[in-house]
Amino acid sequence: MWTPRLPFASILAMPGEFARQFSLARNVSSGGPPGASRRRRGIVPGKSEQHRPQAMNSTPHPDDSRFSRRQFLQTGSSALAGAVLLGTLPAGQAVHAAGSDLLKIALVGCGGRGSGAADQALKTAGGTKLVALADVLPEKLENGLASLQARHPGKVEVPPERRFTDFDGYKKAIALADVVILATSPGFRPMHLAEAVRQGKHVFMEKPVATDAPGIRQVLAAAEEARKKNLKVGVGFQRRHQASYLETIKRIHDGAVGEIQELRVYWNGGSRDGLERLPGETEMHYQIRNWYYFTWLSGDHIVEQHCHNIDVGNWIKGAHPVRAQGMGGRQVRNTKRHGQIFDHHFVEFEYADGSRMFSQCRQIPGCWPTVSEHVLGTKGTADLLGRGHAIKGANPWRFDVKQGRKDAFQQEHDDLFNAIRNDKTYNEAEFAAISTMTAILGRMCTYSGQQIEWHDALNSKIELLPKTFGWDAPPPVLPDANGFYPVAMPGQTISV
Ligand SMILES: NC(=O)c1ccc[n+]([C@@H]2O[C@H](COP(=O)([O-])OP(=O)(O)OC[C@H]3O[C@@H](n4cnc5c(N)ncnc54)[C@H](O)[C@@H]3O)[C@@H](O)[C@H]2O)c1
Repeated sequence: MWTPRLPFASILAMPGEFARQFSLARNVSSGGPPGASRRRRGIVPGKSEQHRPQAMNSTPHPDDSRFSRRQFLQTGSSALAGAVLLGTLPAGQAVHAAGSDLLKIALVGCGGRGSGAADQALKTAGGTKLVALADVLPEKLENGLASLQARHPGKVEVPPERRFTDFDGYKKAIALADVVILATSPGFRPMHLAEAVRQGKHVFMEKPVATDAPGIRQVLAAAEEARKKNLKVGVGFQRRHQASYLETIKRIHDGAVGEIQELRVYWNGGSRDGLERLPGETEMHYQIRNWYYFTWLSGDHIVEQHCHNIDVGNWIKGAHPVRAQGMGGRQVRNTKRHGQIFDHHFVEFEYADGSRMFSQCRQIPGCWPTVSEHVLGTKGTADLLGRGHAIKGANPWRFDVKQGRKDAFQQEHDDLFNAIRNDKTYNEAEFAAISTMTAILGRMCTYSGQQIEWHDALNSKIELLPKTFGWDAPPPVLPDANGFYPVAMPGQTISV
């Protein structure tokens, strides 16, 4: 087992010339802005988790096979993804059991996906109304509001006093709603989920659900609290609600390809470009606006985007990997506006039974594109590619595309709201946390160049988020004198 050479060191703490700029951790308790002095030295001891409610005591041991299987063996109706695995709750605890109640919705993060998710929520059966919005960028809030008002006149009632643009705005928006949609950049998700559950609200949250291991533990703790409070939590892993995936994976679980020997999962394609800095913009403002390119906010694209395919692999296996190793770098995306993330990753994940999942994600234009998952079993193969899902070998079969026309984004909201209205147990947060953690494990491997055990990764104390938020607060990673950001260096970067 690989052990960190510098206990509690930053994920990106590097020796030599890079060290000054290279820390992402929020670890320092005194002396100027959080983390500033030690970040300057690149020395990042790590007792810094007080500001984040930790879940260590309530987190099931990740190597507990029951824990794995109950999260991932989901072969039935999409409406109950995750639900049957968590047991039955007393019906009397239902927050919304009646069929025709008006459900008030708040949206936190009003960008592209948040607006899309709110649109889908407002299209679900029964009475719904959008009552509050929170976004730290006022222009994004107003754009999202305008597009939703145009699509749902009469269902959007968000006067100026219910539009929140400060960093604590999410708390005020959450307080006004029955159901909360969390769709900011992923780094904020654990904090926002914890608050929503603390306030007793049902949640739809986008994937990924965190960008570091402490965030994952916070999500697992919130998932457990949500279960106790009978709150419903849906997550934007929409493949779990897509007919072609549900049918193909049910057949795989029923033995159509025999024992699974190998998985291949890919997200090779394009992405949004980096954003240039605006004149006079503070560092925090720039990073939040250009969030995709900062690991603390997006998790890197292996976490932000490829988590979808990794989740499918875990779902098929009914487990999470026990260790991984990988490689990656940035070949073409290396200007200032490209922040610090890689443009390609390859990871070999190993499951407890010795089978492997080979994972590729690449965001380099002009290269072979595919977004797909593939299974090699002892009796055949399965290809989950677009809608043409098919099984070959002893039990050949092809998904009938006529069955799968429904948009999975709409389906996931129909399923969540159906569960809320009919008090069905529904909690997708646990498997989402484990699949997000799998992607984070992959990034830990590609950044460090090391083989890393699941348990070490999940229990990592390295936190990527800053302690305080505000437009003048320092973000956890800073540019050098020339405006370039620190980038992980395999063989030198410490990641757990
Ligand atoms: N399920 C899917 O297929 C899918 C597709 C696209 C995006 N997503 C996910 O949705 C999330 C949002 O992505 P997007 O494309 O909408 O990004 P976006 O940049 O369009 O929107 C994010 C919004 O969050 C706001 N925000 C950031 N920090 C905030 C904070 N602390 N409080 C309040 N608002 C804050 C930003 O100002 C911005 O308006 C990401 O997690 C992304 O991975 C999922």
